[in-house]
Amino acid sequence: MRADTTFSDRIILAIDDTSLDKIRWVMRETSPLIRTYKIGSISFTAFGPRLIDEVMSFGKDVFLDLKYFDIPNTVYRAVRQAASFGVKMATLHTLGGREMLKRSLEASDGRVMLLGVTLLTSMDAEEADGVGLRGGVQDIVGRLASLAVQAGLHGLVASGHEVPRLKEEFGGLTIVVPGIRPRERGAPADDQKRVVTPRQAFESGADYIVIGRPVTENDDPARVLSEICDGLRK
Ligand code: C5P
Repeated sequence: MRADTTFSDRIILAIDDTSLDKIRWVMRETSPLIRTYKIGSISFTAFGPRLIDEVMSFGKDVFLDLKYFDIPNTVYRAVRQAASFGVKMATLHTLGGREMLKRSLEASDGRVMLLGVTLLTSMDAEEADGVGLRGGVQDIVGRLASLAVQAGLHGLVASGHEVPRLKEEFGGLTIVVPGIRPRERGAPADDQKRVVTPRQAFESGADYIVIGRPVTENDDPARVLSEICDGLRK
């Protein structure tokens, strides 16, 4: 495991909520341990760009996880807008295809780290097959990853199970792993299927992990985070 970076800088907290009071409470409780908060479609739909402003004026970085998937021109303009907000990272679906990925990269103009979502961690082989993606999870992720790399994206979002193979094949890419469940706390998987523990994710080569409900739905989010960080240092 890499020892040179503080783990908390590599743990991104998903603030998926429609209550601003709850989000503010979570941020106050966790701010000593978190540098980057992830704003996804739940909280962005509820509060829009003012939540980005609020997180940034709190001195934190924003990962805007809206998983863009549309015609190239629409995604180009959306990424341009995201870049103008000053967010650090943003996501788009690699399923959007080569042209959409290339145009997004132009729009990011080197200001935003663009991450391609391969296959959602809530999907297993059966779910993927149901939407016409054949060949098993590893093959599907490999194909989509290679598309992202050819388009020049900065990194990928992938399940911990896929990281070793992706790192081996596409070395320098930044890999962000959601679907994290700290086993020691017996956390339920919720709707996530391909889950890993924080330690498994980092040991497999993740650069960042994204964690949400196991932390934000706990009465003491700071304690859960501290336990995760302590467990990683051992
Ligand atoms: O609450 P939980 O820990 O499951 O949160 C995971 C977060 O990561 C959610 O905000 C979800 O949208 C996001 N995510 C994911 N799978 C991906 C990409 C992002 O679960 N492939």
